Amino acid sequence: MRSRFFFFIFLFICSLFAAEAIILPKISENVKKEGKLIYNKDCYACHRWTRDFAGPRMDENIQKYVDQKEELVRYLMNPTPKQPEKYPPMTLEPLSQQDAQVISSWLFYLLDNPKDPERPR
Ligand code: HEC
Repeated sequence: MRSRFFFFIFLFICSLFAAEAIILPKISENVKKEGKLIYNKDCYACHRWTRDFAGPRMDENIQKYVDQKEELVRYLMNPTPKQPEKYPPMTLEPLSQQDAQVISSWLFYLLDNPKDPERPR
């Protein structure tokens, strides 16, 4: 009995330190709508889809993460220097995990569906 008690204490303490799992929501009308809102507010100032602007072109940015999608979410929550010889680090007010997950899901969808009329320029 006693050891079980300590086991639960142990689990509780672990849970305090565990990072929340990153989940990319399935694409839906809601994710598209939210993603676009976040993009227009937080990204469009510096990024264009098919050409370099203040930041590198977005299609190639997203392409870098197709095999490690969670890393894009982490990057948007905590931008670190990527190409210091070409660009300053991205000065972005770090996104919440929720916003980072939603916009990432939408951006990967757009990479596969670049003809979507809602795709940013
Ligand atoms: C103030 C300008 C600015 C804003 C706003 C901005 N970016 Fe960036 N972004 C940059 C710059 C500059 C870089 C290149 C950074 C580097 O190489 O370290 C970059 C790089 C990136 C990359 C490539 C990272 C890599 O691994 O090379 C991604 C992805 C990205 N931005 C996504 C976004 C998204 C999504 C948003 C909106 C939530 C956003 N950016 C908002 C300027 C910006």
